[in-house]
Amino acid sequence: MASFFVLLLLFIIHFYPATCQMLAAYPWIEGEWRLLHRSIGISAMHMQLLKNNKVVIFDRTDFGSSNISLPGGRCRYDPNDRVLKKDCTAHSILYDVRTNRFRALTVQTDTWCSSGAVLPDGTLVQTGGYNDGDHVIRVLVPCGGINCDWVEFPRSLSRRRWYASNQILPDGRIIIVGGRAQFNYEFYPGNSHSSSKSIWLKFLQETKDEHENNLYPFLHLLPDGNLFIFANTRSIIFNYKRNHVVREFPAIPGGDPRNYPSSGSSVLLPIDENAPVVPEIMICGGATRTAFQLEKRRVFPRACSTCGRLKITNQEPAWNMENMPMQRVMSDMLILPDGDLIIINGARSGTAGWESARNPVTRPLIYKPNEKTGTRFSVMAAASRPRLYHSTAVLLTDGRVLVGGSNPHIYYNFTGVDYPTDLSLESFSPPYLSPAYDRLRPRIIRTYEIIRYKKSFSLTFTVQKFLKKSVVSVRIVAPSFNTHSFSMNQRMVVLKGAPPVSRVGSNDYRVVATGPSTPEIAPPGYYLLFLVHAGIPSSGMWVKIQ
Ligand SMILES: *[C@@H]1O[C@H](CO)[C@@H](O)[C@H](O)[C@H]1NC(C)=O
Ligand SMILES: *[C@@H]1O[C@H](CO)[C@@H](O)[C@H](O)[C@H]1NC(C)=O
Repeated sequence: MASFFVLLLLFIIHFYPATCQMLAAYPWIEGEWRLLHRSIGISAMHMQLLKNNKVVIFDRTDFGSSNISLPGGRCRYDPNDRVLKKDCTAHSILYDVRTNRFRALTVQTDTWCSSGAVLPDGTLVQTGGYNDGDHVIRVLVPCGGINCDWVEFPRSLSRRRWYASNQILPDGRIIIVGGRAQFNYEFYPGNSHSSSKSIWLKFLQETKDEHENNLYPFLHLLPDGNLFIFANTRSIIFNYKRNHVVREFPAIPGGDPRNYPSSGSSVLLPIDENAPVVPEIMICGGATRTAFQLEKRRVFPRACSTCGRLKITNQEPAWNMENMPMQRVMSDMLILPDGDLIIINGARSGTAGWESARNPVTRPLIYKPNEKTGTRFSVMAAASRPRLYHSTAVLLTDGRVLVGGSNPHIYYNFTGVDYPTDLSLESFSPPYLSPAYDRLRPRIIRTYEIIRYKKSFSLTFTVQKFLKKSVVSVRIVAPSFNTHSFSMNQRMVVLKGAPPVSRVGSNDYRVVATGPSTPEIAPPGYYLLFLVHAGIPSSGMWVKIQ
């Protein structure tokens, strides 16, 4: 009898790889967390993945000694620093994903609550901060050596940029929008006449609350070249070339603000070039309107559990609301290579700010934008560490999500507080990385390093088990600058593909895709290119779109 079952089992395993995959996948259906470092020396407040698979991570500089020294015995001197006039510790590091090692970088001015974007050549341009850093532009050129470091350009911004949002534009410039008490925007590179450098934007003044807050406005470049800007509960399409508001949308229902300090998150959903392009914005979570006031009395109301989706080209656009399985504030929302979203980090109650949140929400959510309402969310495995205010998340080349930070205190406080300053670095592997999918996982063997607009190119990949009926698609993801729950410059474009896939070797296949139609759909620069087969993404490959 026993041998019958063994035979049956062998039969199942042999003939139904899918059954086998499901069995093996079980522990993985909620993804997997891994601790990479207990301490990287700093708390990861801002993160950006560069084209050399190194992640620039930085904190603020004015709140005490970190747990890593500045390179070369350097020190930072700042008479206005609230803790140390002389600080010989570093507040920025470069993390090498491949080797899992990191080294300190040198930042000499305060980067607190700043913003950034990557230029078409792969250079990170980071803007503003606080105090001696609020007018500074800093650049980091990706390079292999151990000497590359930040270069800082003081007095380079026309206005103080503290809590501004950046977006790379189709012409390769960066627009920097808002900041605390800044109802204006400017460009990098700017023109040389500083008097005309910043341009007034009334919408930012109209949307501030009584504490001058409407910070880190949600900013997305739309496929028609205009910008989508969301602040408080309101949103507009903005033509930055003519300083003209093209249209305003209805306020997001519920009356609760969604950007800082409410700190929900916002994405432009993947743009699919195989269908008529219908740009859609999705905003999830955030603190309720009264949370910022109530927090002063140590009351921490439940955050919003709603997400709103807005098809911005509809004749009469309306927010489509749906519920997450739990309330969330200060979560990060990232587009995964398979086109799903992950909502990760944050808290269930309270708001952004010092000591202002409770009930960390440690389980990420995966959201499938194209499923039927009601079946889109699934709840992932719980992380072991709270990731509250000043935590971050970015997508890595191999499809993992890098998670760090959490510091709801004015200083580095490791003991005697509810949620100690967190210096660790973790990764979360979404279910598609399960070894159970190894047979279906495509691997890109060859493609072009440069992909030109509208030009077709071929890509060769290998996969153990090719499913003829599955859709194979090629997509590009812009690596984003993540801070305060918003991923600036994040976008995915599913490239026009030309099926059928042709077989070119025993397990090797070739597919033809077409570069993005326009720089408005995908601004020039470095992107991660992924191939998805049977819902399982390959590892990403860096390509340059030009
Ligand atoms: C600081 O770094 C050392 C190792 O360099 C480590 O042992 C210690 O735990 C770190 N401190 C914190 C608070 O992470
Ligand atoms: C947090 O750290 C600061 C600076 O080291 C210190 O002055 C303060 O007492 C700490 N707070 C707590 C609650 O330990």
